[in-house]
Amino acid sequence: MKEIRKESVLYMYQSLDELPLAVSNLMERAVEARKRAYAPYSKFQVGAALLLDNNEVITGNNQENASYPSGLCAERTAIYYAGSQYPNAKILKMAISAGASEKQTTKPIPPCGACRQSIAEYELKQESPIEIFFMGETGEIAKSNSLSNLLPFVFDKSEL
Ligand code: THU
Repeated sequence: MKEIRKESVLYMYQSLDELPLAVSNLMERAVEARKRAYAPYSKFQVGAALLLDNNEVITGNNQENASYPSGLCAERTAIYYAGSQYPNAKILKMAISAGASEKQTTKPIPPCGACRQSIAEYELKQESPIEIFFMGETGEIAKSNSLSNLLPFVFDKSEL
């Protein structure tokens, strides 16, 4: 038996003021997108904003459905739109803001497992890291230098 160990690292920022302007601007776009989320069932709104290497910003938010599993998370709404509109652009950064209607969300909310898998596809395709910044409505902002940092031992195309 041998052990394989992978380490995940997050960098925590106290406030948006601590971030480079390009990132705080991107987070502002994620916050605006969160406010447009369609989440009548969970009452938990998420917004995502992507910065592409062609300078486009793509935003998305969670879209829920009366048939619950038919809904989609904010991160996938955004990344699939980016992939469909700009298939050759690289995704440089993703900012995510999440919050519940009935209480203040003050801690950073990372993308769910399914979204990590979806984002991983694009990071592997473009062969360069996607920086992920995530926060609640207020409070600290977490930064991951790549998606692979959030999803060690990824399932990928190598054996398909
Ligand atoms: N949600 C996201 O949009 N992104 C995530 O990474 C986690 C969850 C959405 C899905 C659903 O509409 C609501 O949050 C509650 O799970």
